[in-house]
Amino acid sequence: MAKIIDGKYLAEEILTRVKSETARLQQHGRQPGLAVILVGADPASVLYVASKSRKASACGFHSRTIRLEDTVSQDEILEQIRQLNADEAVHGLLVQLPLPKHIDTQTIVQAIAPEKDVDGLTYSNAGRLASGGSGGFTPCTPAGIMYIVRHIHGDDLSGLDAVIVGRSNIVGKPTAALLLAANATTTIAHSRTRDLPEVIRSADILVAAAGQAEMIKGSWIKPGATIIDVGINRIPASRHSGEKTRLAGDVEFDTASIIAGHITPVPGGVGPMTIAMLMANNLTAAYRAAGADVPELS
Ligand code: GUN
Repeated sequence: MAKIIDGKYLAEEILTRVKSETARLQQHGRQPGLAVILVGADPASVLYVASKSRKASACGFHSRTIRLEDTVSQDEILEQIRQLNADEAVHGLLVQLPLPKHIDTQTIVQAIAPEKDVDGLTYSNAGRLASGGSGGFTPCTPAGIMYIVRHIHGDDLSGLDAVIVGRSNIVGKPTAALLLAANATTTIAHSRTRDLPEVIRSADILVAAAGQAEMIKGSWIKPGATIIDVGINRIPASRHSGEKTRLAGDVEFDTASIIAGHITPVPGGVGPMTIAMLMANNLTAAYRAAGADVPELS
């Protein structure tokens, strides 16, 4: 039976450091500021943004949420970004994704000043990560995944096979860069991969970020593997539960947890780590803006 990784506990370790280093920066008269732009009212996005804002306030940050109608024009969003790029009280700025169909996501994301891009999605930050450069921002979910992986396997993944299912800019590709930098033999699988079960069977470390509820079955998993489930999918609940829906990961937890060595639950695994890493990135942005040495947060 797998050990269940407590993402909330690990996230609290990071948040404790963020809070004390925020207090230290505030002694020098500087308060970190985080701004989040939310376009429209996608229910999941509304919940995620509220949770980021709550956590930012709990860390001692100034937190601002800019809500825009889903009919807003691309130019209006760009104007908001220009103002926030120039606002010295704002150290980190992100636009919650996905955006409505009439908006070009890359145009919006690339307008964010790289030094405030706490999601790590601008070309400058993504390029630094891909080339092994320091001084940028690592996307929050991949940073959280690596914190969990280091907790279990240590810093050096030499000799281990890692498989990521999913090739998004926000999770799959940056996670691959980080696993590779830590010496894992790294494969990115995706919806067009031939014989996905066979590829997954080779994984000592499996990162599931495909966005399809319970698509990865226990019988595909290598005995003793570490399973990091990034999926957050809402599916119908079983009839006896009394609930209409429940959250499920991309991995079938009940069958996988019998075979795996370690597994993250959904919810309570990767989710809290993502938010903790966003707070760490935002504090890093504030320290850099102050010209101060950035403390070790994760
Ligand atoms: N939507 C889902 N996850 C994320 C994230 O980490 N950042 C942004 N900006 N949007 C998201």
